[in-house]
Amino acid sequence: MNTDTMAPPSAKHRVPVPAHVPADLVREIDIYALDGIEEGVHEAWKKVQQPDTPPLVWTPLTGGHWIATRGVLIDDIYRSPDRFSSRVIWVPREAGEAYEMVPTKMDPPEHTPYRKAIDKGLNLAQIRKVEGDIRAVAIELIEGFVSTGQCDFARDFAGIFPVKVFLAIAGLPMDDAAGLNLLAKEMTRPSGNTPEEQGKSLQTANAGFFAYVAPIIAARRGGTGTDLITQMVNSEINGAPMAEDKLLGLVSLLLLGGLDTVVNFLSFMMIYLARHPETVAEMVSDPMKLQRGVEEMFRRFAVVSDARYVVEDMEYHGTQLRAGDLILLPTALHGLDDTQHENPMKVDLSRRNVAHSTFAQGPHRCAGMHLARLEVLVMLQEWLARIPRFSLKDGAAPIYHAGIVAAVEDIPLVWEV
Ligand code: HEM
Repeated sequence: MNTDTMAPPSAKHRVPVPAHVPADLVREIDIYALDGIEEGVHEAWKKVQQPDTPPLVWTPLTGGHWIATRGVLIDDIYRSPDRFSSRVIWVPREAGEAYEMVPTKMDPPEHTPYRKAIDKGLNLAQIRKVEGDIRAVAIELIEGFVSTGQCDFARDFAGIFPVKVFLAIAGLPMDDAAGLNLLAKEMTRPSGNTPEEQGKSLQTANAGFFAYVAPIIAARRGGTGTDLITQMVNSEINGAPMAEDKLLGLVSLLLLGGLDTVVNFLSFMMIYLARHPETVAEMVSDPMKLQRGVEEMFRRFAVVSDARYVVEDMEYHGTQLRAGDLILLPTALHGLDDTQHENPMKVDLSRRNVAHSTFAQGPHRCAGMHLARLEVLVMLQEWLARIPRFSLKDGAAPIYHAGIVAAVEDIPLVWEV
């Protein structure tokens, strides 16, 4: 009998606890198979954050890594690239080492000119120019099913809306969405039962992105188009054209960032709203509350959990870290931290302090956040104008997936027509 294949995935990921990790900091947490995930990804992460949970815990699963469990640390680690590098930002380490996107793996000062190039295409002024297009996509999708009184939100809206918006900004055909979505899933929730297998899955997906973008980059070099990819391809780094390998990583990252995150964020948000008609009614009756509520939604439904690499041996918040250790930063645990927010699981549209790290902090703070914010605002405005009351269909059981980007599917919504 092959006991190896019968073991649960977590057991295969297990590594011995290193000598510098005290036994009382060890917790069994597998970011790809969180305990209690049937109730929801955020609910499962919240269980990790008990009043007596130390600010840093160490898991022997997924190849072994630290997890920052409080907002103060998550915020500080993202802001401190000199001590916590981006050279490995995915767990398991094998997946992080196979990941070749640009500029997420770079630290300043190397990172800075690449980030400037990206910001030229995604800054607030640029994004405001496409608000009309974003609105048109939202309206078209909602009008497509509003009269039927039902939809599967993940399949019929969230899985299409941000993808269509982003592909239009990038000047890419919508037909490419399905293939890109599959690649994005393999990047953020790589398949495999061991760190080695997950590393291989990620490497294949990364290569898939590069193979997809290479001919597009070649075709747009020297072009005069105004789409995001043409802008990136023809931007300069320290006065010279961007090197081919960097362009492959950068254009691939834009696609990855633009696809998986908003899709899943919207889905988590709408499950909550379907279960909380009083919050929906507040937004419907007061457009300002809706507008201000967008940031509260980002606080409550963070989806990214990536990592940083400890640069040198140090003591941090009373804990001994060794150079090369990885620290996972579940961004959900900042927004949901009850030492910073009263009743954090509740969406409170009047909340004053909405501190969160949903878009990270510091030099790598999400370059697409203006686009993401506008997509969420426009989506809520157009949805609530047409469907002001909705709920989950009786017996609905959304299926949750944890990973670098948390995901959810099967969200049947119903409303009166
Ligand atoms: C709900 C939506 C989104 C969330 C929660 C999110 C979250 C994040 C986070 C946490 C990071 C930091 C990663 C790290 O440094 O380890 C990041 C970086 C980034 N995101 Fe987003 N993102 C979202 C939407 C988008 C969109 C729509 C785009 C559009 C292209 C995008 C593009 C990027 C890029 C290019 C970076 C890399 C920035 C850098 O390394 O300097 N994101 N995002």
